[in-house]
Amino acid sequence: MPLPQSFKAMVVTETANKTFVREVKQREFGDLPAGELIIEVKNSSLNYKDALSATGNKGVTRKYPHTPGIDAAGVVAGSTTRSFAVGILAKLGYEVVAATGKSDEKDFLTRLGAKAIISREEANDTSGRPLQKGRWAGVVDTVGGNILATALKTTKDGGLVAACGNAMSADLVTSVYPFILRGVSLLGVNSVDVPMRPRTIAWQKLANEWKVDLSGDLITECSLEELSAKIDLILKGGIRGRVVVDLSR
Ligand SMILES: NC(=O)c1ccc[n+]([C@@H]2O[C@H](COP(=O)([O-])OP(=O)(O)OC[C@H]3O[C@@H](n4cnc5c(N)ncnc54)[C@H](OP(=O)(O)O)[C@@H]3O)[C@@H](O)[C@H]2O)c1
Repeated sequence: MPLPQSFKAMVVTETANKTFVREVKQREFGDLPAGELIIEVKNSSLNYKDALSATGNKGVTRKYPHTPGIDAAGVVAGSTTRSFAVGILAKLGYEVVAATGKSDEKDFLTRLGAKAIISREEANDTSGRPLQKGRWAGVVDTVGGNILATALKTTKDGGLVAACGNAMSADLVTSVYPFILRGVSLLGVNSVDVPMRPRTIAWQKLANEWKVDLSGDLITECSLEELSAKIDLILKGGIRGRVVVDLSR
């Protein structure tokens, strides 16, 4: 099928006084860098990294103008030469304890498969002790900072902690004791640069044995024009589940 000559996109621009402006614009194919894979994007989940990119975080996006959309999904149209951890782990038979700062999220997390819910305070140890009683066989952390440090000191012997994000903080102050006294392992996650083979294996699992029921209110759809407000919301921790941008709306 012939490709349209232009497409709609959110474009984030850096102004002369170092502020960042978001606009939905019509763009031409000629605006795209040469030699790249062309994907006719149907949807994209609103990733927290997109919100950081849309507000000028140079650790995420070095050069502007830029169109965020790390989770873009669609059909490969041409080429001249790209967690619901609670739901997935519950489905695999693990007993999952979820942490949240929102008291009204209990039903939502229980529906995803959590057996118990703890508060953000409980997940954020401020005692200053290097180790606490081991509670977890494994932890998936999306927030960094002292919550990641707490995860390390409350993980049992031989346990695994995956560091995925920095929604709370990019800092990590810990001691070596979880590693040398309990053999805890800290695993880094960088979804951006995963080679195609493990990526394909993960996609196949996500579409089959790891598939989480996303019906009901776990998914909110929005158009490109509604995206800017959702970016502000995700940065304030006001989104739950996934926001999917539907480019046909
Ligand atoms: N490693 C990678 O390759 C990669 C790729 C993309 C994104 N990420 C990271 O993934 C994270 C987003 O995860 P997600 O998409 O799974 O989002 P999510 O399901 O919405 O989870 C975000 C979690 O962060 C918590 N949170 C938000 N702000 C916080 C704060 N200031 N202090 C403590 N907790 C806070 C939320 O707590 P409540 O339950 O209280 O709302 C929620 O539990 C971001 O940190 C992002 O940078 C990593």
